[in-house]
Amino acid sequence: MKLIKDANFRSVRIPIKWSAHASNVAPYTVDPKFFARVDEVLKEALANRLLVVLNMHHYEELEDSPDANEARFKAIWHQIAEHYSKASDDVAFEIYNEPCKQLTDIRWNQLYQSVLKDIRKSNPDRNVVVGPIGWNNLHKLDTLKLPADDAHIIVTVHYYEPFHFTHQGAEWIGPESAGWLGTTWSRTSAERAGVDDDFDTIGSWVRAHPYPIYMGEFGAYSKADMASRVAWTRYVCESALKRGYSPCYWEFGSGFGLYDPQTKKWRESLLRALILK
Ligand code: BGC
Repeated sequence: MKLIKDANFRSVRIPIKWSAHASNVAPYTVDPKFFARVDEVLKEALANRLLVVLNMHHYEELEDSPDANEARFKAIWHQIAEHYSKASDDVAFEIYNEPCKQLTDIRWNQLYQSVLKDIRKSNPDRNVVVGPIGWNNLHKLDTLKLPADDAHIIVTVHYYEPFHFTHQGAEWIGPESAGWLGTTWSRTSAERAGVDDDFDTIGSWVRAHPYPIYMGEFGAYSKADMASRVAWTRYVCESALKRGYSPCYWEFGSGFGLYDPQTKKWRESLLRALILK
């Protein structure tokens, strides 16, 4: 957290797989040892004066079977909300990372709204981040139904276009991603127009729905060449900032990593692209 703060970042998004640390039977108790670990990370972030987005990540059973997992999802959120009800205003909750698969528009709207309602009982003024289905796809913003009377909502979208560039060689996408290896991005006018068009889509939505936009993930996988990753990262970041969207790079020290945990050094060119130096 200190490294991140010292590199001039203002916030961290902490992805948390709560579902792997909660009981499978009602009342679906979250392991207190796990809560203690999250508390520790949160404390460290806040001590370094970073804003924190605390999310729920990779509850895959929920994506596949929302009906069977609805009660557990709500119960886990109820515990998180109560546990952090007194946390600093610098902490925001993000209801679910990248709703997808069986979380269709109707199902997702219904599910997140009922969790939000419950969160509001213990956290009336907490900033809550919520995004559209299709893995937080900007083209699905229109399907997101937002409450009329809530002044503490932040809308998130994730940006990985062109996907064949950012996800080349990404094992979790499937074998076809190997065929995208070698895709470059060199800031040509056509490439810039692709990003601009996408951001215009967000812009038109925002004109009709004036919520703050958090670009909670964007990044290019380490199998792309570094010069292209730097060019893309810089362009996406500067374009987001220009339009008033808050960019949050995916991620710190793993496959998209800005930081190399082996050498314990920042990947300077990527870092500079992001902090626009
Ligand atoms: C997923 C990660 C993945 C990343 C890029 C994230 O939202 O949770 O597993 O590496 O997107 O695809």
